[in-house]
Amino acid sequence: MRTLDLIAKKRDGGEHTDDELRLLVNGCTRGDIPDYQMSAWLMAVVWRGLSEHETFALTAAMAASGDTLDLSSIPGTPVDKHSTGGVGDKTSLAVVPILASAGVPVAKMSGRGLGHTGGTLDKLESIPGTRVHLTVEEILHQVRTVGACVCAQTDNLVPADRKLYALRDATATVESRPLIAASVMSKKLACGAPVIVLDVKVGGGAFMKTLEQARALAGLMIGIGQAQGRRVAAVLSDMNAPLGRAVGNRLEVLEVVRLLYEPSQADPRLLSLVRHLSAVAFTLSGKTATLNEGAALAERQLDSGAAHEKWCQIIEAQGGDARAGLKTGPVQWPVQATRDGDLSGIHAEAIGVGAMRLGAGRATKEDQIDPAAGIILEKTVGDRIRAGETLATLYCREEALAREVAPAVRDAFRVSEQPLEATPLIYDTLGLEP
Ligand code: URA
Repeated sequence: MRTLDLIAKKRDGGEHTDDELRLLVNGCTRGDIPDYQMSAWLMAVVWRGLSEHETFALTAAMAASGDTLDLSSIPGTPVDKHSTGGVGDKTSLAVVPILASAGVPVAKMSGRGLGHTGGTLDKLESIPGTRVHLTVEEILHQVRTVGACVCAQTDNLVPADRKLYALRDATATVESRPLIAASVMSKKLACGAPVIVLDVKVGGGAFMKTLEQARALAGLMIGIGQAQGRRVAAVLSDMNAPLGRAVGNRLEVLEVVRLLYEPSQADPRLLSLVRHLSAVAFTLSGKTATLNEGAALAERQLDSGAAHEKWCQIIEAQGGDARAGLKTGPVQWPVQATRDGDLSGIHAEAIGVGAMRLGAGRATKEDQIDPAAGIILEKTVGDRIRAGETLATLYCREEALAREVAPAVRDAFRVSEQPLEATPLIYDTLGLEP
């Protein structure tokens, strides 16, 4: 069949065979199918959708488009963890050492931030000397000897997604549930872990704005993984307000180090989610029998200092100095409340955009980031606020930049006369039932 016929088939609502999807994926990866035809097919998918079977077959074809990681030489049950992205979401940096310190191996390939959401690689690279570009041999060696690594995708991992994602980004075809699910899960399948824990973010600061959308995406991703023989669970967690107190790469690393070193002083919502995600991973991998046992194990790893020690080992294995002091932006600019009231919400996307404008993120893939820039939220949802109190501190290189960004950050804080009901942190956990 010609590509033209495949585009017409999807345009008219037809269902592709597995062979047709392989043809499209391989033709796109090799560059045999021109971008304009692939883009037309993607738009047809946005309008017509893909059946569950088509989505599974598309994902499998994408996962097989390049290298795959073989983790069979790693003793134990390796776990992978993925977040659909949010503001201040630094949970991976805490969950990985908690799991590894309890003997659950983690080989995690992460991405960079784009737009208002942060990326784990940028956070790691904000620790001077830390290398994120590891070869397959280095990844396997580090997981075998240290128990975990967090690194960039190798160049030839799921090249189909690289190509398709760039086209989707440029043709307004990102927002399609089957395409998002295939993109995320093709990378997770290629990374080889038998156990995958997904954190699907819900709310104003996330891709999925409603619980229904998040539930449907999570169910589809679990189905894709299970069809390939993987154990997959998904946590649906809130992303209406930023997670924790820090937004911005090095500021977030400092928050994680504090959580690992002194968990009693951590932001309670951040600590709860870290504990829950760790518990889900422990249970799904068979390390513990129940979520309660998993949460207790996570707590022990934190309280004993074992998770902090593992963090230092992981960073040092990747060339970073885990014990050095980290410098933050030279300008520290307070953003003050203009009236009294209760803090009923902090608009996650507005804080993410504010941090990006201060230098913590990229508007385009080519932008350089300032690792030390970002925002510390001095107040949290539910706090009583008095006019003149500091709501947030902006960290950046120049005072003029802080002055420019401050009004938008102030507007992200909703101060109202009456307290509103707080949104739950964890809406649901799917995929754990036998
Ligand atoms: N993250 C991905 O990796 N792919 C998508 O399509 C959306 C979010």
